[in-house]
Amino acid sequence: MRLLLPVAPVLAFVQSVIAASSNTPYKPVPYTQAPSYYPGAPWNLPGSETRPTICEVAAAGKDGDDAPTIIEAFQKCKRNAKVVFADTTYHIKSVMEITDLSNVEVEIKGTLLWSTDISYWLENSLPMGYQNHSTAFIFGGDQVHMYGNGVGTFNGNGQVWYDRYGDISNYPRRPHQITFNGLTNSVIEGINFLQPQMWTMTLIYSKKVLLQDIYVNSTNANGGPNLNTDGADTIYASDITFTRWVVDAGDDNVAFKANSTNILVEDCTFYKTTGVAYGSIGQFDGKFEVLEDITVRNINAYNNKYGAYVKTWTGVPQGVPPNGGGGGLGYLRNVTMSNFKVENAEQGFYITQCNSYSGFTGECDTSEFEIGDISIQGMSGTLKTDVVASMQCSGKNPCKEISLRDVSFTTGRGRASRYLCSNVESPDGFGCTGEAPKPQ
Ligand SMILES: *[C@@H]1O[C@H](CO)[C@@H](O)[C@H](O)[C@H]1NC(C)=O
Ligand SMILES: *[C@@H]1O[C@H](CO)[C@@H](O)[C@H](O)[C@H]1NC(C)=O
Ligand SMILES: *[C@@H]1O[C@H](CO)[C@@H](O)[C@H](O)[C@H]1NC(C)=O
Ligand SMILES: *[C@@H]1O[C@H](CO)[C@@H](O)[C@H](O)[C@H]1NC(C)=O
Repeated sequence: MRLLLPVAPVLAFVQSVIAASSNTPYKPVPYTQAPSYYPGAPWNLPGSETRPTICEVAAAGKDGDDAPTIIEAFQKCKRNAKVVFADTTYHIKSVMEITDLSNVEVEIKGTLLWSTDISYWLENSLPMGYQNHSTAFIFGGDQVHMYGNGVGTFNGNGQVWYDRYGDISNYPRRPHQITFNGLTNSVIEGINFLQPQMWTMTLIYSKKVLLQDIYVNSTNANGGPNLNTDGADTIYASDITFTRWVVDAGDDNVAFKANSTNILVEDCTFYKTTGVAYGSIGQFDGKFEVLEDITVRNINAYNNKYGAYVKTWTGVPQGVPPNGGGGGLGYLRNVTMSNFKVENAEQGFYITQCNSYSGFTGECDTSEFEIGDISIQGMSGTLKTDVVASMQCSGKNPCKEISLRDVSFTTGRGRASRYLCSNVESPDGFGCTGEAPKPQ
């Protein structure tokens, strides 16, 4: 039997290791010191004396599979306990589902490294709970504090996935790195997510979660595409705060999907991503989904496609999910973005209501999904085109109350001046200079 050492009861005092190693720029702030303006604050998790049991997870070495040991550790330390991953490499060769934790502290000093056995994962990845996607790891619970002090790392070994499927949208059963399902009143901080197999993480059926000092890098080492390597997605999630993230990824940095409400993203730096994404949404015929009360501020974005963008499916279903869909209902409301520095993007802000991933086009004026009450206050930088914003809204339900103030970009040839609009009612702070193009 592999070693699993429950050390109980031990001294309740847990020494917090604030000093990260010198080569990392991240300085996790203990959740108890998180500023009070976070949704759900104060972060008043129980003191460490309430977690007397400690489970140290022993690693088997590269020939073993550490997943069963990890699952066992969380079974023993499921409630009022602490799980410690040592400063070593854990080899994950099978799926993990760890849920219903309660008052658990998780310290990660080393690396969890996923295996590259593509056929195993395609056969065994777990349903993620939305859009017919799959995941390698489901994790959830109440009052969970998971931290890596800037060194703890989840490495998805994603290069094999990028090489094989990096140019294929939503390849069936390709696993996400981690899915936080049913995570509530919790903090995830100071962790590196490297080479995720597909989406890095999703927060689904989750509420009151603070994720801070997170580093995500899904760079394709061979220079090719790495589609679907989102930094984070929110689905059926509320009161979620993302702060001090660095994301270098091939797709959206953060994407707010079905029923994402009261979300705050701040003090983040994004490289090479598609942008901050509202959607895609409206994919499921007749379903009513909302994006509401979302604030994104203090963003530095380098070489991203857009500063931010909104994408809804058409009103007429074309094909089937995950790569087809449409006909969904709902609304996007009360979205505020401020203080964006966007360097070398194609456009600052973009809206499309003709989303489809499998070659279907047209029907761009059919969506009934309502887009309104978006305010951008302060977005500047440099663009590769002279289009500051392109907003293609549906003729069937035009965009309302879009305000772009203090927005200014330069191009190689001077100031970017074009605002392309279709079905944008009473624009505030800008004038439309032409029609927004529809995809051909
Ligand atoms: C989900 O994907 C599988 C392929 O893995 C496909 O057979 C199935 O029809 C899809 N289901 C839906 C609801 O789209
Ligand atoms: C991401 O990883 C690549 C490859 O290791 C590296 O060149 C790049 O600098 C990293 N990005 C960031 C933002 O650290
Ligand atoms: C999403 O939110 C809408 C509006 O509040 C609600 O009607 C719907 O039931 C929610 N869907 C799910 C799956 O929670
Ligand atoms: C808009 O959303 C913000 C959070 O992003 C919230 O603080 C504010 O109360 C919301 N406004 C309205 C009118 O609901």
